[in-house]
Amino acid sequence: MTERDGIGRSSLAEEGAASWEAIADGWAERMRTDTDFSRKLVLDAPHLALLGDVAGKHVLDAGCGEGRFARMLADRGARVTAIDLSRRMIELGRESESADTPTIEFHEMNMCDLSAFGDESFDVVVAYLTIIDVEDYESAFAQISRVLRPGGQFLFSIVHPCFYPPGAEWEPRKPGTFPILDKDKRYLKVDNYFPARELRFRMWPTAPAETINFHRPLSDYARVCRQNGFLIREMAEPVPSDEVLARRDDLRAHLRAPYFLIFDCAKAAA
Ligand SMILES: C[S@@+](CC[C@H](N)C(=O)[O-])C[C@H]1O[C@@H](n2cnc3c(N)ncnc32)[C@H](O)[C@@H]1O
Repeated sequence: MTERDGIGRSSLAEEGAASWEAIADGWAERMRTDTDFSRKLVLDAPHLALLGDVAGKHVLDAGCGEGRFARMLADRGARVTAIDLSRRMIELGRESESADTPTIEFHEMNMCDLSAFGDESFDVVVAYLTIIDVEDYESAFAQISRVLRPGGQFLFSIVHPCFYPPGAEWEPRKPGTFPILDKDKRYLKVDNYFPARELRFRMWPTAPAETINFHRPLSDYARVCRQNGFLIREMAEPVPSDEVLARRDDLRAHLRAPYFLIFDCAKAAA
């Protein structure tokens, strides 16, 4: 357990929020160049496929970062409300929009407190690799369920907890080396899957602050979905396409142990 402040945020959640603030500019730079391969080469396509036609739908992007996916949804005709805990991320999101024709409503907001939105006000909620950043994920699920209309879609993606809990790493074929190419990876070492716990790491070697993620076993996600009326329709374990794999040998590891997991849920009718 961590200490909680007067508004219910733990010191760990505060630390996590501060770290996103610190890395926001560097993060945006990486998102807007070709540095972030996971999203472009692995995750965007299955997210978009599972969402289907979003034209005309009111979509909440919960934990939007600097807004890249919110923009992709707006480009496809969705009415997008995008929220993030980090003030700087929201500024970057707003700056990325045309001043004359802003199409996305950006708000600095914690997804654990969506009281600014009425009940059942969204058709779709997306949390693209963000639930792993939220310590109090139970409040986030409860709030997302409240603001989603019955029958609405909740799509969220996480780092696969079965294969990449904190400490998981590829055993190198050559002892003492760090395997990047697939041929240099012998097998994935996974241990201590069950205990929910934090993971601290630098998003990139020179990132100005550590990022904090929260690992929890798969059964925690199934439970919190059930408790909040979410029916899991599909669980996708996306892999890079053959065309991507022909260029990126390091991504072949996704075929041996999936790095990501996407939950496609529907909010049950009352
Ligand atoms: C890994 S980034 C993902 C951003 C975006 N979804 C994307 O895929 O580019 C995680 C984002 O979640 C935000 N975040 C973390 N905890 C949050 C919370 N409780 N409420 C809203 N946003 C949060 C962080 O500030 C950060 O911008």
